[in-house]
Amino acid sequence: MKGFEKFYRRKLQERWDILQDEGILTKDDIKCLRNTVSSSELGNSMIENFIADYSIPEGVSFHYLIDGQEYLVPMVTEEPSVIAASSHGASIVKKAGGFKTKIKQRLMLGQIIVENFKSFEKLNEGIENEQQSLLRIANKAHYSLIKRGGGARWIRCRPLADDLLSIDLAVDVREAMGANMLNTMLEAVADHIRAVFDENVLMSILSNYATECLAIAECSIPLSVLGKESFTGEEIGRRIVQASRVAQVDPYRAATHNKGIMNGVDAVALATGNDWRAIESGAHAFAARDGQYRGLSQWTISDEQLKGRIELPLPVGSVGGSIGILPLVKINQRILKIKNAEELEKVIACVGLGQNLAALYALISEGIQKGHMRLQSKTLAIAAGAKPDELQQVLAVMNKTKEKNSATAKAAIDKIRRSKRHDRN
Ligand code: MEV
Repeated sequence: MKGFEKFYRRKLQERWDILQDEGILTKDDIKCLRNTVSSSELGNSMIENFIADYSIPEGVSFHYLIDGQEYLVPMVTEEPSVIAASSHGASIVKKAGGFKTKIKQRLMLGQIIVENFKSFEKLNEGIENEQQSLLRIANKAHYSLIKRGGGARWIRCRPLADDLLSIDLAVDVREAMGANMLNTMLEAVADHIRAVFDENVLMSILSNYATECLAIAECSIPLSVLGKESFTGEEIGRRIVQASRVAQVDPYRAATHNKGIMNGVDAVALATGNDWRAIESGAHAFAARDGQYRGLSQWTISDEQLKGRIELPLPVGSVGGSIGILPLVKINQRILKIKNAEELEKVIACVGLGQNLAALYALISEGIQKGHMRLQSKTLAIAAGAKPDELQQVLAVMNKTKEKNSATAKAAIDKIRRSKRHDRN
């Protein structure tokens, strides 16, 4: 692909021209790409080989009553039903007094991996004895963090294999997610380990397994508010507990259970400019912390209440990185009215639990497809060309048909337009 040489140095228009000249995109495709771009400087400053702003819909989720305060939660997702489910789960919890949260601490972890070390005991002892001076070295590498009340808090040595160990550094990164800060501090400490301890450092990097940055959300719902159609509240509660148990004992179900939780977690992480891949990887590692992959949330019944609990690592930030650059993030922080990263952690944990409640509630009662199909019909109708003023009528026709696909959507639109023409004549 000769035309792509030095693509990264080209101006945006030149990149589009190359894509067209190479016969990959048409003139109309380029027009479509151009229409997406709000600012080429922004895209170019954030990523490499920028060609378009890829947009995903954003909506708001309601009813999140958390520690006595109500939140409007912006969510960015391409999946129908996620926001409706989130609001539904939160509304059930709201009726029962809302979510309660706990944050133990907010420390980010980084690793310096040492290979072919001489003696684990000796190095471990050395690290312990020099703990204070090592923390000072880390702090000197990012001094502004100290001024903001943060800084390196502890350092420890962990054996990994006969010839490998990890020196873990825990840092209070204040309001940021802190990846860059942590990496700078780690490299400074790694230099010292090489020079003074005379050890072989293989690499140093933050860990996304953020076990020192855990958020907990809980709720307690009277069984009496859970009843629905032919199901009593007791039966709904019992079935949710069973579904929760399945996710504890079976990794196949646990993965889907957690996917539902991450539907909500990722959507808020994206809306607030956070690194959702970091959150995903940390959450899944945490789900397997005892050696078996399990559901991140658990539901139990006691005192006639359905009790839900979720605990997961949430290394989110409220400043720094793309948070400060993406214009929508600032707006979303205003919608959320969060004051700091800790508050954002609390909201995200509750969204995970609310999302999970709604999914389990649907799965163990009417099933997930009924609600999905209602929303799916809307997506199909729009994709088939239904105009906003036709949508309700198209949906009414589609709801009466058994098969819901693009052909039935198109047929419904044609039928409505035919009858409109007929009325006019
Ligand atoms: C779909 O995106 C998410 C669910 O599969 C979650 C679950 O099964 O718990 C409905």
